[in-house]
Amino acid sequence: MPIQHEFDVLIIGSGAAGLSLALELAPCCRLAVLSKGTLDEGATLYAQGGISAVLDAADSVESHVADTLAAGAQLCRPDVARFIVERGRDRIQWLIEQGVPFTRAPGPGGDTHYHLTREGGHSHRRVIHAADATGRAVQTTLEQRVRADPSIALFEHHIAIDVVTGRHLGREPGRCFGAYVYDRERQQVHSFAARVVVLATGGAGKVYLYTSNPDVATGDGIAMAWRAGARVGNLEFIQFHPTCLYHPQAKSFLITEAIRGEGGRLLLPDGSPFMQRFDPRGELAPRDIVARAIDHEMKRLGADCVYLDVSHRSPEFIREHFPTVYGRCLDFGLDITTSAIPVVPAAHYLCGGVLTDLRGRTSTDALYAVGEVACTGLHGANRMASNSLLECLVIAESAAADIRARLGAIAPPPALPPWDESQVTDSDEEVVVAHNWDELRRFMWDYVGIVRTTKRLLRASRRIELLKAEIAEYYGNFRVSNDLIELRNLVLVAELIIRCALARKESRGLHYTLDYPQPDTSVPPCDTVLQWQS
Ligand code: FAD
Ligand code: SIN
Repeated sequence: MPIQHEFDVLIIGSGAAGLSLALELAPCCRLAVLSKGTLDEGATLYAQGGISAVLDAADSVESHVADTLAAGAQLCRPDVARFIVERGRDRIQWLIEQGVPFTRAPGPGGDTHYHLTREGGHSHRRVIHAADATGRAVQTTLEQRVRADPSIALFEHHIAIDVVTGRHLGREPGRCFGAYVYDRERQQVHSFAARVVVLATGGAGKVYLYTSNPDVATGDGIAMAWRAGARVGNLEFIQFHPTCLYHPQAKSFLITEAIRGEGGRLLLPDGSPFMQRFDPRGELAPRDIVARAIDHEMKRLGADCVYLDVSHRSPEFIREHFPTVYGRCLDFGLDITTSAIPVVPAAHYLCGGVLTDLRGRTSTDALYAVGEVACTGLHGANRMASNSLLECLVIAESAAADIRARLGAIAPPPALPPWDESQVTDSDEEVVVAHNWDELRRFMWDYVGIVRTTKRLLRASRRIELLKAEIAEYYGNFRVSNDLIELRNLVLVAELIIRCALARKESRGLHYTLDYPQPDTSVPPCDTVLQWQS
């Protein structure tokens, strides 16, 4: 039987954003956390390089903010960057108190301190890490804390379909009252009424054929927020990570940028370096520049990949600092202590998302968004490496403070009507879902990738219209399934990405189009904001 739940706060997503928010809120309200799969499955688990924060005496908030703004191609909001960077040290201390085992290094006097590595765009060493598996250390630590807290109700294998607003209930149209959620094990749709709903659903890498993201990254939060009437923006800024392992069985395994931070060189197939031709910062230029340079060289030479070589470092150093990358490459017969790693770019991070303020509030009342799903203004046109986990932690804390302060004043939700299945039957054509899923991801890769043109974007837009109509018909006639819910979201997010890309008549940061190859300096840089039904 479908169940009608009721909570004070419903958090949709269990990565760094969702779990840290849950831990901050837990003592003060009745709380539920949903996860599409197991609690750990999300981008956080796979984060490698680390978390950026001003932790070294020679570093400064000014420097971290300046690097963030420069990487973001002047589209970041400086007040947001300062707010987040200023709180970095405190959030790292919080993680340490939770038990995250960051890597330590011996100091000159025989003492130890936390080791800081470097990544692209950073002018100082400021990335704290747990070897090259920082996300696993953060995720598993937070997960242990959450599982040990009886005041947090956990719902694994539950995928939110849509958030419920007053529009569905004949009440205030601009307020959120809960969500409908598909229980993947029981194959039933339950309702979750809540005073406050928080989207912490992560990114949308699965819109693209090749991505570093896990399978759960299907942009659900953005699609749900859009259908609820919330504003979204800057979705044209898709970050392609320059270095994913090129191997038929590797499923775009990430090769951390920290390898370049520790001196790794990018090489063409003939062994020659090339990054200095594109940027004086070479291998440590921001990601948009490095990914475009690799794309350019691969297309110019007709090469399948380029190479990343860290073999100048001692085998002991490589095994100690990069055990995950070392072990995974060895699984494929590649010893990175002696050989260069074949690499290609892949879709990695969504800089845009659901527009929020610094408290995580969206434009829909009682609906918050935190983490990769949100667009606070920190990343502008290109996120600097390791600023994402920092943003998750800082905004989760400020959202928790805001929710705590106003929860008592938010009226309890009404009982939600049960999910209506009276008009649908079981699907007899699952192949439609699988086919449309593949087609979408392939044309997004081909037409809406690292280098764009208006013609290719329009071509993709026409395909989207056909797919959307087909998926809407399917959704209207058949019972929901996990794949159908995700496909419906993917096609909507793809459409929003294309609309944002077509609206930006310039090249800036991660959005590069041959039709407008320069930044438009005639007007101040501005966000691309999409408003529902506009
Ligand atoms: P996630 O950790 O992705 O969690 C999303 C959660 O939402 C999951 O629990 C998922 O099940 C759930 N969910 C999604 N949709 C639904 C739904 N409809 N219903 C119910 N639940 C749902 N950033 C850094 O700062 N430093 C790094 O070193 C770094 N390395 C990275 C390496 C890789 C390979 C990748 C992919 C990303 C990396 N990033 C890094 C980016 C960073 O990891 C992510 O931006 C960040 O972890 C996002 O956290 P999140 O909590 O917003 O989302
Ligand atoms: C990496 O380790 O290269 C990923 C870092 C990030 O995405 O911030």
